[in-house]
Amino acid sequence: MKRLIMVFTLIVVPTSVFAWPWSQDMMNQPSIKPQEGQMQPFPKRSVPVAGIPTVYTDREQTKGLANPIKVSQASLKKGETLFKIYCAACHGLTGKADSPVSNKIGAIDLTDDYVQKDLTEGWVFGTITFGSAIMPAYGKPGEGGGSNDLSVEERWHVVNYVKHGLAKAARNMASN
Ligand code: HEC
Repeated sequence: MKRLIMVFTLIVVPTSVFAWPWSQDMMNQPSIKPQEGQMQPFPKRSVPVAGIPTVYTDREQTKGLANPIKVSQASLKKGETLFKIYCAACHGLTGKADSPVSNKIGAIDLTDDYVQKDLTEGWVFGTITFGSAIMPAYGKPGEGGGSNDLSVEERWHVVNYVKHGLAKAARNMASN
C-alpha cells in the first residue's frame, strides 16, 4: 500500500499538474508569432509617419477641389477647435493677424477679402496641406517644420471654419 502511494505521488501527481518549470504549455500554445500570419489593419485614425495621405503634390493641384464636407455647426465647431490649436498662434484667435507674433513673421489677416473671396477652398486646403512661403505644412512631414498633424478630413473642417465661420466670429468678438 505504502508503495502504491509513493508511485502515485511521484508519477501520477506531477503529470496532472501543469505548472512545473519544465512545462512548455505557454510556449506551445496556438498564437501568432512576430512576422507570422496576416497583419492586422491599422486603427482608423492612424496616419503614416512619412508620406502624404492625398494624391496631390502642391496647391496648384488642389485649388480646384470642392470641399467634400458640408458646412454644418458640427463641422464649424471642429474647425474652430483645430484653428485655435494649429493656426491661432500665428494668425491670431480671431484670424485677424492679431497674435503677438503675427507681424514679426508676416502672418496675414485671414478675414479680409483676399482669403475670404479670392482664394478658393481648395487653395486654402492646399495651403494647410503643403504650407506656404513661411507657413509650415500640416499634411506633409519634412523640411520647414512640416508635419502630418491634420488628417485630410480635419483640414477640410478647418477650411470650413476659415471660409464660413472665422469672419463672422471676428465680427461678433469686435462688437462685444
Ligand atoms: C508658424 C506660423 C503660422 C501658422 C501656425 C499658420 N500660418 Fe498660415 N500663414 C503664415 C504666414 C507667415 C503666412 C503668409 C506668408 C506665407 O504665405 O507663408 C500665412 C499664410 C496663410 C494663408 C494664405 C496663403 C496664400 O496663398 O497667400 C492661409 C489661407 C493661411 N495661412 C491659413 C492658415 C491656417 C488655416 C492655419 C492653421 C492650420 C495656418 N495658416 C497656420 C503663418 C502661419
